[in-house]
Amino acid sequence: MSRDEPPSLRWSSAMSVGVPALDSDHRCLIRIISLLRGIEDGEETRTMIETVLDTLTAYAWFHFAREERVTAAFAFPQTEVHQDEHRDFTRFMDNLRIRYGGRCAPAESPLVV
Ligand SMILES: [Fe+2]
Repeated sequence: MSRDEPPSLRWSSAMSVGVPALDSDHRCLIRIISLLRGIEDGEETRTMIETVLDTLTAYAWFHFAREERVTAAFAFPQTEVHQDEHRDFTRFMDNLRIRYGGRCAPAESPLVV
């Protein structure tokens, strides 16, 4: 690993939330994020970054909807805080997609429902 290379991100059982579907989503999200590490400089770099960010955004929308249904069903005490974190992450992703690709769906318009 070079000095500028970010550390690898791996899911571990310590990250488990105890809901298999949500753990599976989290593993998928980490795998998608990890794809960024494999992108090398070249003609297709921007397209590859855009594709990963678009995929991450779409999967995050899918996951957030599922996770919010689960937290509501179980009356999770931090539901509103968690939903705010989801909105913050969505805005963060929108800004990243604008910065790296110039494409962005409006923050309140999910790509996947
Ligand atoms: Fe989550």
